[in-house]
Amino acid sequence: LVRVLTGITTSGTPHLGNYVGAIRPAIAASRSADVESYYFLADLHALIKVQEPARVQRSTLEIAATWLACGLEPERVRFYRQSDIPEITELTWLLTCVAGKGILNRAHAYKAAVDRNRAEGEDDDAGINAGLFMYPVLMSADILLFNADRVPVGRDQIQHIEMARDFGQRFNHLYGEHFTLPEVEIEERVATLPGLDGRKMSKSYDNTIPLFASRAELKKLIFSIITDSKAPGEPKDADGSALFQFYRAFASEDETARMRQAFAEGIAWGEAKQQLFERIDVEVAPLRERYEALIARPEVIERQLRDGAAQLRQQVATPFLRRLREAVGLRELS
Ligand code: TYM
Repeated sequence: LVRVLTGITTSGTPHLGNYVGAIRPAIAASRSADVESYYFLADLHALIKVQEPARVQRSTLEIAATWLACGLEPERVRFYRQSDIPEITELTWLLTCVAGKGILNRAHAYKAAVDRNRAEGEDDDAGINAGLFMYPVLMSADILLFNADRVPVGRDQIQHIEMARDFGQRFNHLYGEHFTLPEVEIEERVATLPGLDGRKMSKSYDNTIPLFASRAELKKLIFSIITDSKAPGEPKDADGSALFQFYRAFASEDETARMRQAFAEGIAWGEAKQQLFERIDVEVAPLRERYEALIARPEVIERQLRDGAAQLRQQVATPFLRRLREAVGLRELS
């Protein structure tokens, strides 16, 4: 049995990048008979960036409804909210005490924040909370607590999975073989989905297309993806085009090859956008309908999350943490 685990931070509305990078491959994996899936809402991670309680709550509901609308079957999948499993926070401390501080200094998100401060002539750590610095340790606890074998994520998360391996290995070395070292899993045809401005689609850049935007809004947003100014009939460079990368993330290999050909033959940008819009809408429209029905019944979702967490604690997290506490020399819980 292979354990697949992944999470989404509840800091905003889920977007197409989350869908193609993590949700779609994770749901596909969960349908395979030899896979045990762990999919969760990373609400503790959200607190690093979002200090508005109502927004964290809303996002948690939206992301939960999104997982379900995209086909997650709660009977087959461990589906839970990170903060409902206090063993994750406890393991975070055990890992903190083996994690090299120098490794955390090199984490991309933290380094980017320091670099911004330097560019603005501020102190290195001005305005940076320690949660941002510790982010990779919390994420390692998410993964190692459940001994995940594979973690499907977008490219931006690769470094974090490498850190989880590093911390897990140090712990194993000191205290015995307790943790499985996880492998990262990247959907090759997706790599990184670009946003409206051509940079990586990200909540932090405000360039996202919400997964469940209405049909009209989806169309408007897709038509606002930036392109160069090549006229209809002029050959266009597929590999340098955000629009093409987008198309590839949603289309089959054949369709992608045909679109590449159309680019070479000078398809008009408007026409390419129309085709992209239709391709995405065909896939998303049925999910959107289910999402609307689910989000209208938050109490059902809440129940599923609580039940999922209670079971998971009892069956996996609590006994495993007892073993880890003993391994490091803390008093065994009776
Ligand atoms: P988050 O919430 O930023 O993103 C969720 C998932 O979506 C992927 N993703 C993308 N993939 C392709 N193109 C994009 N433009 C794009 N934007 C986002 C992300 O790579 C991610 O897979 N730290 C994680 C959440 C987390 C987690 C974990 C993941 C917490 N604990 C344990 C895996 C295992 C995060 O903030 O993802």
